[in-house]
Parts: sequence; C-alpha cells; structure tokens
Amino acid sequence: QEIVDAPIIIVGSGYGGAVSALRLCEAGKKVLILEMGLNWEKSGIPFSNLLKPGKSAAWLKKKTIAPFMNLFSLQPFTGALDRLDFEHINIWVGRGVGGGSIVNGGMAVTPKESYFKEIFPQLDAEKFYNFYFPLARKELKVNVINEQFLHDCPYYKFTRVGEEEAHKAGFKTIRVPNVYDFNYMEKEFKNEVPRSALNTEVIYGNNHGKNSLDKTYLKKALDTGNLEILDLHCVDSIQMNEDKSYTLQVNQINTSGETIAEKVFHCKKLILSAGTMGTLYLLMKSNAKNGFPLEKNVGENWGNNGNFMTGRNWVRPLSGGTGVQQSTIPVGGVDNWDDKEHPFFAEIAPLPMGMDVATALYLLINRVDKKGKVSYNTATQKLTIDWNENHTEKMRANADYFIKKMNRANGGTRSHFLFKNGFGPNICYHPLGGCVLGEATNPYGKLNNHENLFVLDGSLIPGTIGVNPFVTIVAITEYCIENLIRQNEFA
Ligand code: FDA
Repeated sequence: QEIVDAPIIIVGSGYGGAVSALRLCEAGKKVLILEMGLNWEKSGIPFSNLLKPGKSAAWLKKKTIAPFMNLFSLQPFTGALDRLDFEHINIWVGRGVGGGSIVNGGMAVTPKESYFKEIFPQLDAEKFYNFYFPLARKELKVNVINEQFLHDCPYYKFTRVGEEEAHKAGFKTIRVPNVYDFNYMEKEFKNEVPRSALNTEVIYGNNHGKNSLDKTYLKKALDTGNLEILDLHCVDSIQMNEDKSYTLQVNQINTSGETIAEKVFHCKKLILSAGTMGTLYLLMKSNAKNGFPLEKNVGENWGNNGNFMTGRNWVRPLSGGTGVQQSTIPVGGVDNWDDKEHPFFAEIAPLPMGMDVATALYLLINRVDKKGKVSYNTATQKLTIDWNENHTEKMRANADYFIKKMNRANGGTRSHFLFKNGFGPNICYHPLGGCVLGEATNPYGKLNNHENLFVLDGSLIPGTIGVNPFVTIVAITEYCIENLIRQNEFA
C-alpha cells in the first residue's frame, strides 16, 4: 500500500486545528489537515435552514437531530451536524472544514478573569487578558450588535422580552459578542443581501454572515500556500513507530459515508485537533488496537461545561410571545455568576420555529464541581462517559431556581413542551477536557510519553470554563503553538 508522507499532519479543522495550521504555515512549515467532514465551500452545496432541513442537517442520519422537534426524515449524507449519544448525555458536534464553527451560534465570550485563574492557575492571566484573548477576538472577527438595531428589529423580540423579564425578576443581563457580522445582518433586514440569520440558518450551517473558520484562520493559512486540507478523510487509528514518528490509517469516504479508499499516512509531527470527543476516541481506540502509549489520566477531568437547557411556556401569550420571526444569533444573556448559591450564565436563546410558540429557551452554563471520566469499551469499540444525574444535580437546582424566579415575576410555566419535566440536563454543546493541559500533556499540549504528538483542542480545558468555549480554545491554542514553535518542536 502506498504511504503518503507529510512532515506535519493535523487531524481536524476546528478551532484548535485552524489556529495551529495558521501559525505553523506562517512559520514556513508545510501542513496537511485531514478532516472527516465535507469542504462545504468547495462542494458548492448550500447549507439548509431549520425549517427545511436538507443535506447539511445531519451526519449520515435518516432523521434530523436538532435538540427538539425532529419531524423531518433525511437521505443519509455527510451533513454538518452530528450527535454522539451516551447513556446520560447527548453531545452535538460540527463536521466539515471549519469544525464546530460551521454549526455553532457564534457566541464569542471571554471567560471571567477570576474563573480563568481558578481553572488555569498555572497560566499567566495578565498575558492572556492583554494578549491572547484580544488576539483571538481580532482573528475571529468578533463584533457586537448595534443597540438601536436590537431595539427596533422584530427578529430580536425574543431577546428584548428575555431581558425585560430577567430585569423584572431581579437578574442582571449582559450583551454577548458574536462572530456573525452584524453589519451584514442589518443589510439582511433591509433585504439588500441574501438572508441567513434572519432565515433560520445556524446549526445546519450559515450560507452568509457568519465568520466561521473557513473565512478567518483557515483562509489565512491557505493563503500562505503552505496548507493542504483533505476533506472526507476520516482517521481511523494512529500507531507510534520505533523512531517516534506516526502512521495513520485513514478512510476516505464519499458523501454517503461509504469508504472509497483506505489510505496510510506517515508523519514526523502529529497534532490532534479532532475536538474533545474525537481526540479522546482516536487516542483510546489506538491504545486498545495497537498499544499506542497512553497515560491513565487521559479521559479524566471531563465535563459538559455546565450545559443545562431549560425553557418557559406561556411567555407573554397575549402580546405575541417571544416573536414569530427570530434571528438565530443570540445576543443576550443573564449573568448570575457572582451569586454564591446559584452561580450561572443563561443564554437567552432563539427558538425560530416559524410560528408563535410563546416559549422562552435558555442554555445555562454552570460550574462543573463534579467531573466526569471518559473511557473506551473494547467490546463495543465505543467511548463511554462516567456521567449521570449526580454530576448535574447542582445545575438542575440552578435551572429550577432561575425558572421559578422568572415565572414568579413574569408569569409562565416550566416548559413541558420542549423537555420532559421542563429540564434538558442531557443536552451538551460544549464537551471539554479529558486531555488536560499540564496534566495529560506538558505545559504546551505535548502529550505525555510522546515526543512528537500534540493535542490542541477543547480537550485541554478541564471540563469547564464558565462561558461558551471557543474564544478560550483559540486563546489557549495560540499560547501553546507559539511556545511549541519557539521551542523548535517543529524544526
Ligand atoms: P471542533 O469540534 O471544532 O473540530 C474538530 C474537527 O475534527 C471536526 O471538524 C471533526 O469533523 C474533525 N474530526 C473529528 N474526528 C476526526 C477523525 N477521526 N478524522 C478526521 N477528522 C476528525 N461555542 C461557543 O463558544 N459559542 C457558541 O455559540 C457555540 N454554539 C454551539 C452550538 C452548537 C450546535 C454546537 C455543536 C457547539 C457550539 N459551541 C459553541 C461549541 C464549539 O463549537 C466547540 O467548543 C468547538 O467547536 C470545539 O473546538 P475544537 O477545536 O475542540 O473542535
């Protein structure tokens, strides 16, 4: 079998992969990214919206996999959104060139400095807040909605109602920055350009407006001429060779998910950026398959970033509810983080169903005081997560406190319409940890017991960061790759 040789291979083109690729390419290194998902831009296939799910809606599934209201059947296709189902938790991830940035809501939040210090006591917080976080926001093209537009636009009634109700209940709210271009959105509203956020596009991809990684980090990296991206290339397992280089077994698939070629790649330097679940799966599966060296602490300190969904029904039922038309891009949140008893953030989330459902949806982000652990089951050849109701008990208490206080002040009921008992403890968009910086790796992401393998993605963050995580993933990767290049790790 032919072996393709590349000096540096990166597995995955999400945040960790895109940042590493750019900085290595700028340093003059040739980089190859292997990405299991589709290159949507190159394919010319448009993304579909929430009301008419099509090819991009789900990764090789027969039915849609949105968090709720899955009434649509599909032709299996290598779609942009995937859901990994575990016993007590379902984890959504992005698939495609750009990883999670293709499907996510674009909320670009910098963590509170005090919490960052608590989670990463070994890092120089001053350097992060003066340099790496601003750098991440600049490269990601983070911007903030214009207050007047928010005040006037009918598509943001859900945010205005959410904020008014939160204030009436005694909560503090914050404006949430985003990578969606709000100037573009204002033009959409005036019908000067094609609509995307105002046309229910988001978790199946945005055709316009969103500055996903293919428009930022990956574009810049490709412009150097040093990056090659092979899409629909799924890394099956990794083997460490005697000379400490790596051999990768890779399946090239078609858009129906069938393997069309089995390939072998060889590289001296390997970066795993397959996302928290993808990286853990590759490491553990390779360990079970060929004795790939792995320390016991890989899989530990995993968490759902405190993700906990909840909602309220009968929200302003007589005055148009939260609005029939809703932008898919959230811009508001409840900040209750400083409450010692009930610390949480609650994203005031859109629910663009094309009809008035008089329902408010919230994604809470809580502390994760009890961490989970990811393991590999050799019999089923799947990951398992030690994670159950005990891990989410505190999060449920916070959601209960929040909903009760909101309902007491504003009316409304717990949302049985969206969730059983009104709570969605098993919905996770932010899996983090399992390959924690400075525990499973050296201070800059080099995996313990390895000389040439680096983990750079969400798995470096120990299960929680208190806000939506991609700005932190970018900042940490910028920090790690800068130091790894400086230490001549890629010489
Ligand atoms: P990421 O998951 O981005 O990328 C990993 C890539 O590796 C994927 O493209 C995958 O296909 C590829 N891959 C995996 N295994 C592979 C293999 N074996 N071979 C080849 N390729 C492989 N965050 C935030 O900050 N603000 C927000 O608003 C949101 N909203 C949101 C909504 C939804 C619906 C989801 C699913 C997620 C979010 N997030 C979010 C979370 C955010 O998107 C997430 O934390 C990051 O994408 C994680 O970045 P990583 O670099 O870790 O991996």
